[in-house]
Formats: sequence, C-alpha cells, structure tokens
Amino acid sequence: MTPIKKVLIAGASGYLGRYAVREFKEKGYHVRALVRDPDKIKHPGLHGEPAIHHLIDEMVIGDVTSPESIKGICNGVDLVFSALGLTAPHPELTSHDVDYLGNKRILDQALDAKVSRFIYVSVFNHDKMAEVLSIKAHELFVAELKQSGLAWAVIRPNGYFSDMGRFFSMAQSGHIFMIGEGEKKINPIHGADLAKTCVDAVEGECCEIPVGGPDVYTFREVMEMAFHACGKTPWITPLPFWLAEGGLMVTGLFNRNLADLFLFAIEALKFDHVAPAYGTRHLKDFFAELAGGTH
Ligand SMILES: NC(=O)c1ccc[n+]([C@@H]2O[C@H](COP(=O)([O-])OP(=O)(O)OC[C@H]3O[C@@H](n4cnc5c(N)ncnc54)[C@H](OP(=O)(O)O)[C@@H]3O)[C@@H](O)[C@H]2O)c1
Repeated sequence: MTPIKKVLIAGASGYLGRYAVREFKEKGYHVRALVRDPDKIKHPGLHGEPAIHHLIDEMVIGDVTSPESIKGICNGVDLVFSALGLTAPHPELTSHDVDYLGNKRILDQALDAKVSRFIYVSVFNHDKMAEVLSIKAHELFVAELKQSGLAWAVIRPNGYFSDMGRFFSMAQSGHIFMIGEGEKKINPIHGADLAKTCVDAVEGECCEIPVGGPDVYTFREVMEMAFHACGKTPWITPLPFWLAEGGLMVTGLFNRNLADLFLFAIEALKFDHVAPAYGTRHLKDFFAELAGGTH
C-alpha cells in the first residue's frame, strides 16, 4: 500500500486556499494547514468558499511574519502548496513582508525538511505589471523558488471569481466608476476549478502554468452581468486613466499600501488577461449565487 502523502497548505483560510484544502483532501492527501485564526475556517468565506475545519488533519496556528510561530512547519510533509499572500492593504505590512519574505521563510523550512516539491501561486501577466509592488514581491519569491533546488511549479492565474465579486458589490450599490472604457478582456476562474489545476501540478516537470476560466468577457461585460444579477439597470461611469492615476498619486502621499493596490487595479485594466482556459464553472452562475445568497 502506498503511504498517504502529506501536504502543507499555506494560505489555507483564503479564497483559493480553502478550495485547495478540499481538493487535496478529495485526492487522499493528509492536510496540514497554516492558519492565523482557527475560528475563521469554521465558516464559509465571503464568496462561497467552503468551511474547512472538518477537512484538516493538522492545523498550525502561525503568522509568516513571526518566524517562531512557523518553526518546523514543513517537518514530515511531502510537498508544500502556498496561496499565501497579502491581498488587502495592511497598516504596517507590505507585500514584500508577506508575499516574498513570508513565503521565503516557508521555503527555507521546506529545504530543511527536504520536502519534494513546492507549488506556488503567483500571477498571470506579471511581466506587464512589473512595477507593481505586489507583483515584484511575488516574482522575487518565484526567483528564489526556482533556484532553491526543490522541484517546483508556479501557477499563474489571471483573476478569481472572488475578485470579480468586487464588481458585484459595487453593482449592488447601484453605480460603478470604471477606469478606462472596459474593453479589455479577461477569463476569470472559480476557486474550485483553479484548485484542481493546482493539485494536478504535484506531478510532472517543473513548470509555470498560466490559468484562466472557461468564458472570456470584457470588463464592461463583467460589470453589466453583475448589475443584471442583482436586478439593477447598469449605471457605469468611465473614468479616464489620467484621472485615476492622478488620484493614485494623491493616495500614495498618505497610504503607500493602498496606492499599490490601486496601481494594480489601474494597470490590470490596460490590457487583456486571457489565459489558457480550464474549468467548468461560469461567472454568471457565481453572480446569481451571490445575488441569491445561496453560495
Ligand atoms: N484574487 C485574484 O484574482 C488573484 C489572481 C491571481 C493571483 N492571486 C494570488 O493568489 C494568492 C491567493 O489569493 P486569494 O484571493 O485566495 O487570497 P486571500 O483570500 O486573501 O488569502 C490569502 C491567504 O494568505 C493568508 N495570509 C496573509 N498574510 C498572512 C500572514 N502574515 N501569515 C499567515 N498567513 C497569511 C491569509 O490568512 P488570513 O485568512 O488569516 O488572512 C489567507 O489564508 C495571492 O497570493 C494572490 O496574490 C490572486
């Protein structure tokens, strides 16, 4: 009988991380999860991602910015999957602290523990947004991972349904300010579909895997779909890029982390994000679930 493989999942409480826990569990893995708040994972997340407390075999309560709390975290595991990252502005921490240094601390432990593979979730189109601090942090880590000597896989998703959920929240308020004309295209992916691709990356050559979902839309179409899902007439006001960039400069004067998030949002709307298609779940159904509160 082949022994059960153990995986450490970092970022287990997040949108993608929860689906990854479920997917690894369904594939028969023993799951060790790194979480900061054990209560959080007892409940589904904001975008329908599942509660996972009952799926986890071992829980490590720790914070990657506090090295002591994650000491020995990789001992006895066969592979590491990390969807750990800073996705909202923090008053003190930067992407460099979390996405780069935090993941690097886990990588160092993985090397000490001689794990066989490290799967990391970065971003699609990173080369077109290289000046965004969060992208820089992701890519610094990717560079470390590639030269670490471990077998690796880097997943490059373009946009999650949870991210499209921001448009849904704005549509619920009745109005969306859209930066640019919204004509650029994206094929976002559901966390459950993406998690399958991530788990498939446990085997095979070291590689980068760009990932998108099954349907391509313009950003304007995504916004209109969000309005329709919540039963409202689309009311979208385009803002020119120069105006958004002016606002960004002002924001940067008093909140660098928030400004970096805005920069990401502005840069991302300047070009298409159409990645190879995976998965079967549709954004229209996701919005309908959000509207019905049935996720
Ligand atoms: N959203 C998108 O459209 C998108 C697209 C491409 C790539 N990505 C990348 O994919 C990754 C996952 O995204 P997501 O949307 O699933 O993010 P998310 O829901 O915000 O989850 C992030 C995870 O990282 C954990 N985390 C953050 N800081 C931590 C710290 N100091 N110590 C320990 N854990 C920490 C969070 O824990 P808590 O639950 O305790 O906060 C959470 O589990 C991110 O790196 C993101 O940049 C996202």
